[in-house]
Amino acid sequence: MATATVKVWDPLLRVFHWGLATAIVTAWLTADELQNLHEFAGYAAGSLIVVRLVLGIVGSRYARFGQFIRSPRQTWLYASDMLRHREARYLGHNPLGAAMVVLLIALTAAVALTGWLQTTDAYWGVEWVEETHETLANIFLVAIPLHVLGVIHASRRHRENLVAAMITGRKRAASGSDLG
Ligand code: HEM
Ligand code: HEM
Repeated sequence: MATATVKVWDPLLRVFHWGLATAIVTAWLTADELQNLHEFAGYAAGSLIVVRLVLGIVGSRYARFGQFIRSPRQTWLYASDMLRHREARYLGHNPLGAAMVVLLIALTAAVALTGWLQTTDAYWGVEWVEETHETLANIFLVAIPLHVLGVIHASRRHRENLVAAMITGRKRAASGSDLG
């Protein structure tokens, strides 16, 4: 019997995700090398964040911030469940994944903003802006591998392919103790 699936990630959110990943990798690889492409990719990332903020308020069910942002306490409880190998499966983002999503969105916004500031008369050549831009961009080097490790861990733990779900938009329907 075929496994029942449900729609979780809407098309715009999936385009946002893979577009953002492409933009960040491009901006990273072109930093200090191809300034025009660097700025273009950086602005693309910044624009995608604006789209994501709108989706977070008026988007489909699992795109809404209110659906997946949990309190620090709930996030902590999820992390301790994870250490005991008894964390629940979530159809949307799990609490720890959601915290990483918030970090990645905020980080991209701050890096794009400090990048743009360097093109303005007021902040061009201002050292703290340059340094903030570079330091924040370096945090991606830790955050993105952790994000991917989290995806791999949750995929194995619940025997599903979350990367495929971010492409097709569909996940195995909830059963038993699964949560929203
Ligand atoms: C520059 C690299 C990346 C960035 C900035 C990034 C950012 C994000 C963000 C912001 C979300 C939340 C989606 C939303 O609700 O808006 C997300 C989710 C997700 N990302 Fe990435 N991502 C990156 C790379 C990757 C890669 C390489 C993979 C593949 C392994 C991946 C797999 C996923 C999956 C499967 C989800 C959904 C997680 C879940 O089921 O809760 N991401 N990512
Ligand atoms: C959001 C994605 C972005 C990432 C990941 C990123 C990453 C970086 C990194 C790592 C550097 C340091 C290069 C080095 O000195 O070794 C850099 C420099 C710089 N970035 Fe970005 N950046 C982004 C967006 C932007 C945007 C939107 C702009 C402007 C429109 C911008 C403008 C600059 C400028 C002017 C420099 C200084 C280049 C120099 O040192 O002369 N960046 N960026």
